[in-house]
Amino acid sequence: MQVTGPRGTNDILPGDVERWHLVEERIRSLCRIYGYHEIRTPIFEHTELFVRGIGEATDIVEKEMYTFTDKGDRSITLRPEGTAPVVRAYLEHKLYAAGNPTKLYYLGPMFRYERPQAGRYRQFTQFGVEVFGSRHPAVDAEAIALPVHLYQALGIKDARVQINTIGCPECRPAYRQLLKDSLRDRVDQLCPSCQRRYERNPLRLLDCKEESCRRVTADVPTIYDSLCEECRDHFDRLQVYLEAAGIDFEVNPRLVRGFDYYTKTVFEFSSSSLGAQDALGGGGRYDGLVEEVGGQPTPGIGFAVGIDRILLAMERQGAAAPAPDGVKVFIASLGEAATLAAVTLLSQVRRAGIPAEMDYLGRSLKAQLKAADKSRARYAVIVGDAELAKEAAVVRNLATGEQAEVSLAEVTLHLKEALK
Ligand code: HAM
Repeated sequence: MQVTGPRGTNDILPGDVERWHLVEERIRSLCRIYGYHEIRTPIFEHTELFVRGIGEATDIVEKEMYTFTDKGDRSITLRPEGTAPVVRAYLEHKLYAAGNPTKLYYLGPMFRYERPQAGRYRQFTQFGVEVFGSRHPAVDAEAIALPVHLYQALGIKDARVQINTIGCPECRPAYRQLLKDSLRDRVDQLCPSCQRRYERNPLRLLDCKEESCRRVTADVPTIYDSLCEECRDHFDRLQVYLEAAGIDFEVNPRLVRGFDYYTKTVFEFSSSSLGAQDALGGGGRYDGLVEEVGGQPTPGIGFAVGIDRILLAMERQGAAAPAPDGVKVFIASLGEAATLAAVTLLSQVRRAGIPAEMDYLGRSLKAQLKAADKSRARYAVIVGDAELAKEAAVVRNLATGEQAEVSLAEVTLHLKEALK
C-alpha cells in the first residue's frame, strides 16, 4: 500500500512554491524596512517552556501539542508557536546585552494537533516578530502596522484589524471577578468548555463562538471601566498612534486571545474571504512573559501571521501568482563528442547565470528540439557533428527561427547579449 502524508500536513509543489517565495521575499524586505533581524530557533523545545509560557489552562497546552518522550527520557514538544522559544533564546543568548529594544523576526513551521479543515492544518507556517524592552504604545502600533503593510503589499484588500486591551495583573483580577459575578447564576447555560473556562480562564468566555454562550454573555460588562490608569492610558495612546500611522481599526471588547501571556494590548487580523478560519494573524503585548521564562522583568510585544492563510486569501482575492522561473537555453546534441561539448557549454552558460538544460534522456535531435520548445526556452544551442568539426554551434531563437553559427568559445557571451 502506498504511504500518504499525515493528516493536516501539506506538500508544497513546484508551481505553488513560487507563491511562497513571493510572500517570503516580501516579508524579508519589510523586515529590513522596519528594522527586524531574523532569529531561527529549533523546531522542538522542552515541553516545560510552553507549559510555563503559553499557560496550562489554554487550548494549545491542554489539547493541541505534539509532545513525546525522547530516548533520553525528556519531554519534548514540537513548537506550537514562536513567542516562547524566542523569549527563551533572547534570555539564553543575552540578546538584551546589545541594548534594547531588541527586534526579532522568524519564519517557519509550527505544529498543533487541531482538527484539520480549510486554512487549519497540523503543520503550518508562521511569520512572527517579537520586540523586547519597550513599554511604549508606539511599538504596539508598529506591531499592528507591519502586518497591515504586508497584507496590502500582497494584494489582500479586506484585512480587518481589531484591537482590545485585556489589562494587566494589577487590574485584570478585579475584572475577572466582575465577569464571574455577572454570570454566576447562568453558568449552567454555557457550553461545556465555557463552564470549565468559567473557573480557570473566564476572559475566554468572551470569544466563544457558540450561539448559546454569545447570548448568555451578551450583556456582561466590558473591561474598560476596570482598567488601571496605566492600561487605560496605554490603550488610548495606541489608538491615537494607529490613527497617526493611517491604520484603520476597530475596537472589539470581546477580543481576548488564546494565550495566558498577554497583558494590555491584543489584536487580530481577519479576512472574510477565508471562511470559518478567518484569522490572518494576531498578537499582543506580554510584559510578564520574560520573567515567567526566568529572566529579569522585560516588556515584550509581537505578532504572528499564518502564511498558509495569507496564500489562501491571496488566491481567493485573485492576487497575481508569479510565473515559475523558466529555463532560457536548451542545449541539444547528438553523439558522444557533441554531448561532451554540450556538457562544457551547459556548465559555462549556467555559471554565467543563465538557466539552462540539456537532454538527459538520449533523445533524437528532433525530439530534443521539441523538448526545448516545450520547456519554453528562448534559445536552443545545437551541437551537431558538422558544427563540432568547426568548433562551433548553432544558436537558434526558438520564437523567430532565426539562427547563427557561433564559435563554442563565444556561445556564452552571445547568449548573454541575446538575452539582455
Ligand atoms: P496565534 O493567533 O495562535 O498567535 O497564531 C497566529 C496566526 O497563525 C493565526 O492568526 C493564523 O493565521 C495562523 N495559525 C494558527 N493556527 C493555525 C493552524 N492550525 N493552521 C494554519 N494557520 C494557523 C500566536 O501563535 C502567537 N505566538 C502570536 C504572537 C507573537 N503573540 C505575540 N507574539
